[in-house]
Amino acid sequence: MAKLETVTATDPGLAETTLTVLLAGGSSPAGVATARALSHAGFRVLSVGSDAGRIAAAIDGIPSASALACDLAEPAEVAALAAVVHRDFGRIDGLVHLVGGWRGGAGIAGQTDADWDFLHHRILSTLRNTSRAFYDDLVASPSGRLAIVSSTSVIRPTADNANYAAAKSAAEAWTQAVANGFAADGSNAAAVILAVKGLVDAGMRAASPERTFPGFTDVTVLAGEICALFTQPAASLNGCRKILQ
Ligand SMILES: NC(=O)c1ccc[n+]([C@@H]2O[C@H](COP(=O)([O-])OP(=O)(O)OC[C@H]3O[C@@H](n4cnc5c(N)ncnc54)[C@H](OP(=O)(O)O)[C@@H]3O)[C@@H](O)[C@H]2O)c1
Repeated sequence: MAKLETVTATDPGLAETTLTVLLAGGSSPAGVATARALSHAGFRVLSVGSDAGRIAAAIDGIPSASALACDLAEPAEVAALAAVVHRDFGRIDGLVHLVGGWRGGAGIAGQTDADWDFLHHRILSTLRNTSRAFYDDLVASPSGRLAIVSSTSVIRPTADNANYAAAKSAAEAWTQAVANGFAADGSNAAAVILAVKGLVDAGMRAASPERTFPGFTDVTVLAGEICALFTQPAASLNGCRKILQ
């Protein structure tokens, strides 16, 4: 994998006041929709994924978006990413964490160690690494924002998804701790949890036209909610858990 190679879709000559948002895990349909919406709203977007080809493809044709390849579960790689971002783009103003993944199992005894390793590395380690590396940026920003996308299953976990709900619950606790840090540091930053039952996109609808996806959130709705975080007062957002439909 080409490490930390920056791919810029276009160079629109952004103003110095342009806010920069880093998407952690930007190559899924949710990442693409969020990059597109943020770019359309006037943000600079840094989209990060573990695979150089996939993340470059994800920002293809999106103005003001750049792609960086990094394994966000690896603290040393995230430290190197932060150095490259600061060198090439300066401070970031938003960190949107989208790295996910799902594993289930039959009951509590069926929650495997391999699945737990997968889930906590992807859901928690990547959040912990990125929010630590960019915490000072978000505190220094005039409108720093950290957003994670969690699951409604955290509130009512089942035995069959115990690993997943526990990892998501830990990510929510970490985000609330960041919110506490933002407040204690007197910043204008906010850390927010957006909870969904599921995500749906045009490709999923086209692949299963008979499905209705009840309660799922369209990725374009999620993207709009993420853009809106930057226009709402930090005091009303910090530590909030919002359920999206
Ligand atoms: N999809 C749903 O129905 C649903 C339901 C509830 C909550 N959510 C949450 O919503 C968010 C977005 O969901 P999603 O389905 O779009 O997520 P996803 O596809 O599981 O993850 C987003 C992207 O993260 C990248 N990624 C994985 N491991 C990485 C690593 N170590 N370093 C850097 N990037 C990595 C993947 O791209 P590469 O493999 O190219 O790196 C992937 O495209 C997640 O937090 C998810 O848990 C989703």
